[in-house]
Amino acid sequence: MNEHTLSLRLERVAANVPHGARLADIGSDHAYLPVALMRRGVIAAAVAGEVATTPFHAAQRTVRDNGLEQHITVRLADGLAAIEAADGITAISVCGMGGETIRDILESGKAHLSGQERLVLQPNGGEQPLRQWLMDNGYSISSEELLRENRFYYEIIVAERAGPVVYSAEQLYFGPLQMQARSPAFIAKWQRMLHQKQKTLASLERARQAVPEDKVQEIARQAGWIAQLLA
Ligand SMILES: C[S@@+](CC[C@H](N)C(=O)[O-])C[C@H]1O[C@@H](n2cnc3c(N)ncnc32)[C@H](O)[C@@H]1O
Repeated sequence: MNEHTLSLRLERVAANVPHGARLADIGSDHAYLPVALMRRGVIAAAVAGEVATTPFHAAQRTVRDNGLEQHITVRLADGLAAIEAADGITAISVCGMGGETIRDILESGKAHLSGQERLVLQPNGGEQPLRQWLMDNGYSISSEELLRENRFYYEIIVAERAGPVVYSAEQLYFGPLQMQARSPAFIAKWQRMLHQKQKTLASLERARQAVPEDKVQEIARQAGWIAQLLA
């Protein structure tokens, strides 16, 4: 992967960034996403935010090598602190991190959100707590995608602030739109997950004394939801 050839995962994230957007890519690493989108003429400008110095320097290098310093600002910053009001950001991507980490970035950076930005989020696991945060903060999920690349499943969650929204516990767990669409990838993912949960439950059963009962109950509840979904 590089700024010319994105992974399928980042290609699908790119497809959800609106034309003409002013993008903040948080946790940008090499800045491949904003640089590819800028090279293609999809976005008007970008901020690439990085909290760690090695990826920050890598992002600076990619931007410089592509002669895009006038259009992409690379900032060393924690989460949404990379965004300044004058940037006029209209879309924020946070990709390739755990859902809890993305949630924490959104929560601690709330002051930097105008509420007008489209959020394009690609969590690696932890989708449920991330969707919970979106619901609790008035973000409605406008699009969801599940894809498989290199034997891993990746979710892309697109959200916009549109007033109060209520999702059920199952919708937060599976994704409200994915539950409706029931794509082949979605069914395959949850078949695999059910198998894993059943294996976990069987091994917890054997080690009963050491495991808190509420943990076992939670996994059993999730396995029940998945079995119902697939029935
Ligand atoms: C696995 S990489 C993903 C890179 C790219 N977004 C992608 O999806 O391919 C995660 C990056 O997020 C950065 N990161 C983690 N927490 C961050 C935070 N709070 N603020 C900014 N960057 C962060 C890490 O330094 C790392 O470079």
